[in-house]
Amino acid sequence: MVSRSSRLDAIPPYLFGEIARLKAEAIQAGKDLIDLGIGDPDQPTPADIVEALARAARDPETHRYDESPAGDPAFLEAVTRRLARQFGVTLDPASQVLELIGSKEGLAHLAWAFLDAGDVSLVPDPAYTVYRVNSLMAGAEVFAMPLLAENAFLPDLSAIPGEVARRAKLLWVNYPNNPTGATAERAFFEDAVRFCRDYDILLVNDAAYAEVTFDGYECPSALQVPGALDVAIEFHSFSKMFNMTGWRIGMAAGNADAIAALNKLKSNVDSKQFRAVAQAAAYAADHASNAEALELIRKRRDILVDGLNSLGWQIPRPRATFYVWVPVPSAFTSMTYAAALLERAGVLAIPGIGYGQYGDGYVRMSLTVSGDTSGERLAEAVRRIADARLGPRG
Ligand SMILES: Cc1ncc(COP(=O)(O)O)c(C=O)c1O
Repeated sequence: MVSRSSRLDAIPPYLFGEIARLKAEAIQAGKDLIDLGIGDPDQPTPADIVEALARAARDPETHRYDESPAGDPAFLEAVTRRLARQFGVTLDPASQVLELIGSKEGLAHLAWAFLDAGDVSLVPDPAYTVYRVNSLMAGAEVFAMPLLAENAFLPDLSAIPGEVARRAKLLWVNYPNNPTGATAERAFFEDAVRFCRDYDILLVNDAAYAEVTFDGYECPSALQVPGALDVAIEFHSFSKMFNMTGWRIGMAAGNADAIAALNKLKSNVDSKQFRAVAQAAAYAADHASNAEALELIRKRRDILVDGLNSLGWQIPRPRATFYVWVPVPSAFTSMTYAAALLERAGVLAIPGIGYGQYGDGYVRMSLTVSGDTSGERLAEAVRRIADARLGPRG
């Protein structure tokens, strides 16, 4: 067999392998597992969006290659309108917005569009692994920005040495944040825009959870900051907002040169999303509501967070995302704690080390547990953790 590329070998080993093995064992043994692992909405896509897809799929025009420059025009116009309504950001759909086959695809390709060997990529730790892995594969040096509880899980930009910042091309941030559930205020984006202007860096905000918010919280966009369109690109997704993870549709918005660079790379790699999916997403952007889905997640959040806190934790209720970032009791690492939860309580959580070394004191519990209509599985998870004496007080 021919050897694979050295860039593929640059990817760190898969850290969830052990948990996947224990999960398979538990299922094999017929255990009733409560899976708080994956962040994938368990509820169906709203019926009116499915109807919009069916309508669009009946139009033979959608069956052909999409030869538009940056994605289906109806999609680009609808998401531009939505970003204006939601965040007050005015964009040109022809040059500042790009259709993506899910935001993961766009984030990964952005690294390839901008990074060369010797460049620095500023990556939060813990973080969604796509930023780091693709920076490494593109040959860049990754500089980790720790996300610590004492800094409200925001990176400390002043801790980045000037020599590193001068070599950096991308600064990745992700608010609302996976895995910590943290949110950022507009002041943070103002600092980040200033920093990126000073050092000529592209600010990349992954806003996949920008519309998965609760309690009236209005998430800011990095693009709201004056001057952001000179230095920033932001990624949005339909996956989490409208329970559309399998549909693979999202968008990038922001600096026109960054959009053009990403588009140039993509036009040599893919041939865009099925136009019927893009048109159904355009319908969703203009007309669909996710209020009901969010209400269910909020209810589950309260049951899980309040339940864990009754065992002695002091976890704030996240204002956005599907995730609860749970400090592990002091006798454990994130890996040994996740294994103990699985073996002794039948609860699957993701060890924080999988998101980076600064994630090691935590496990991530997701609120998208399937088959849970009103939080009963999460209440059961809390009971099991208590019974197994796996709370912070043992
Ligand atoms: C932080 C973050 N960004 C992006 C994505 C990718 O979402 P999409 O389905 O749009 O590719 C995810 C999915 O889990 C995520 O957690």
